[in-house]
Amino acid sequence: MKILVTGGTGYIGSHTVVELQEKGFEVVIADNLSNSSIEVLDKISKITGTRPSFEKTDLSELETTRSFFSKFPGIEAVIHFAAYKAVGESVNLPLKYYRNNLVSLMNILECMQEHDIGDLVFSSSCTVYGQPDSLPVDESAPIKKALSPYGNTKQIAEEIISDFCDVSKMKTVLLRYFNPIGAHESALIGELPIGIPSNLMPFITQTAIGKREFLNVWGDDYNTPDGTAIRDYIHVVDLARAHVTTLERLLNESSDEKTEVFNLGTGVGYSVLQVIRSFEKMTGMKLDYRIKARRPGDVEKVWADTQYANKVLGWKAEKGLDEMTLSAWNWEKNLESLRTR
Ligand code: UD1
Repeated sequence: MKILVTGGTGYIGSHTVVELQEKGFEVVIADNLSNSSIEVLDKISKITGTRPSFEKTDLSELETTRSFFSKFPGIEAVIHFAAYKAVGESVNLPLKYYRNNLVSLMNILECMQEHDIGDLVFSSSCTVYGQPDSLPVDESAPIKKALSPYGNTKQIAEEIISDFCDVSKMKTVLLRYFNPIGAHESALIGELPIGIPSNLMPFITQTAIGKREFLNVWGDDYNTPDGTAIRDYIHVVDLARAHVTTLERLLNESSDEKTEVFNLGTGVGYSVLQVIRSFEKMTGMKLDYRIKARRPGDVEKVWADTQYANKVLGWKAEKGLDEMTLSAWNWEKNLESLRTR
């Protein structure tokens, strides 16, 4: 069965391609390589023994997207990851984000309709909840005003998809990710931020390897046990597996709903200092970190209510924080050895 994975050379996309191939799906990737490398394809084939089909594609151009779908007939479903995701950049370049993230989504929906493809899995984010009124946050919690154009693209995308599903044959599952970290156990694929990372885990591993002088801990005066902000970190392989489960749910027509929403998290929140301690314990290294002022736009604490995903999707995150931090470190070390070889 042929599945289109947009953004399939990216961080979550590449891990999902691996899990799909290991379950016997045939994968076609569309990616513009704006934040990923073509070499990821070699790494995927090294892990799975199969090289996915690939086309460098700008999905924000309708005719290009049409050509892609014509070139790869027989696609049964789409997992749509391709999007810009740098929160800070989105504040400075809102049109870049709205155009890319929303126009490409609409182009994909249009082409799926033209080719009679009825199933879509969409990458959304827990960012839609903002600072929830109660924790853990479940899928029925109100959507809060987005704090960045990036966050807003996720909210608007959810609405575009749901409106379109209401009047078409299409069914969609919106997956709201909490904080994906870690890397595949082979250490062949992982997170590869371009420039200075803004996310915590790559900043930790780059500090440990010596690429960054020290780690800034953004705020220790939050209303949390140790004062640092709390997130629900989830291993990227657990997250990738959830996509396969979700896809099977759609393909097996297990639900009558046009649009479903699931939280993908572990249900457990960890503070920034707890992540640092886990990293130090698992690697035996000491991390140089300095406490700084809060980062504007950060929420204090958020973690998922995962009961709905556990029960209805039949999926549960299995990997703990220590496994996440160690796998992130193994990936960073492997990257370093490739650079210096
Ligand atoms: C960020 C985005 C979110 C996006 C997600 C995935 C913001 C405000 N939010 O989530 O919209 O969906 O990434 O890309 O940017 N931290 C430090 N030092 C660092 C980096 C992070 O202390 O150098 C802290 C943060 O303050 C936060 C935690 O670590 O408390 C996690 O940060 P991060 O990895 O950037 O994720 P989010 O902010 O949760």
